[in-house]
Amino acid sequence: MSKIIAFTNQKGGVGKTTSTANIGAGLARAGYKVLLVDLDPQVNLTHGLGLIGAEFNVYGALLQEYPIKAYPVQENLGLVAGAPALSSFEKVKGDEVDREFLLKDLLEPLQEKCDFILLDCPPALGLITLNAYACADTLYIPLEAQMYATDGLEKVLEMVTRVKRRLNPALTVGGIFFTRFDPRKVLRRETAEIIRDKYPDLVLKHTIRETITLGEAPHLSQDIFRYAPNSAGAADYEHLVQEILTR
Ligand SMILES: Nc1ncnc2c1ncn2[C@@H]1O[C@H](COP(=O)(O)OP(=O)(O)OP(=O)(O)O)[C@@H](O)[C@H]1O
Ligand SMILES: [Mg+2]
Repeated sequence: MSKIIAFTNQKGGVGKTTSTANIGAGLARAGYKVLLVDLDPQVNLTHGLGLIGAEFNVYGALLQEYPIKAYPVQENLGLVAGAPALSSFEKVKGDEVDREFLLKDLLEPLQEKCDFILLDCPPALGLITLNAYACADTLYIPLEAQMYATDGLEKVLEMVTRVKRRLNPALTVGGIFFTRFDPRKVLRRETAEIIRDKYPDLVLKHTIRETITLGEAPHLSQDIFRYAPNSAGAADYEHLVQEILTR
């Protein structure tokens, strides 16, 4: 049975997609069978892995137009493509009974085939994200250590409390980790310390530094381990993968 992990934060641009792609690649390199699912209408994960104009995507599968299809990315790593049409999901499925469990039903047959399913959530707490929370075992929350960072975090944590009560009692928050971290900036360091003090059990030990290579890799359809194996980004994501595996 696979473990389903969702990367989520209502705040945009905090590193959800970068983390899904690189943690997925790190787990695959460690020998785990991994499936990535792009749940964001922005389709950044899909495009960043070099899949353009995919014929089959998660939206069509959620609408039962065809069975779910995973495209191979590299050894041990597959991708269920996203689609811009995901933005209509709420409008199309909003009135349906069991609307929060459509993704869970869709992923069920794949659970036997992989060790991890990683969900890249959109920067919103709408029906798509609810579907992710309803089927996930664990959420990880990437966070930029800067002003207002905790606003998005608190909204996610409130939502988790509600989802646990109503939709998925087994849901856990695996942790919060800092992305785009620049230890030379005092304000960032101080903000990170404040968040660490406030959520001592949730903040992971390892952080992802701000590094240009992490932004470059998806432009060449590569993960950081392939694009720049000796970079700070590769080292940081490798440490994070190990920490996630031992939590
Ligand atoms: N550690 C990092 N160092 C430098 N650039 C980064 C880092 N992490 C992410 N980026 C860049 O920051 C931008 C936002 O990252 P990403 O797309 O992963 O965030 P996101 O949370 O998925 O955004 P959205 O909410 O829009 O889906 C991207 O251009 C990405 O390449
Ligand atoms: Mg994203």
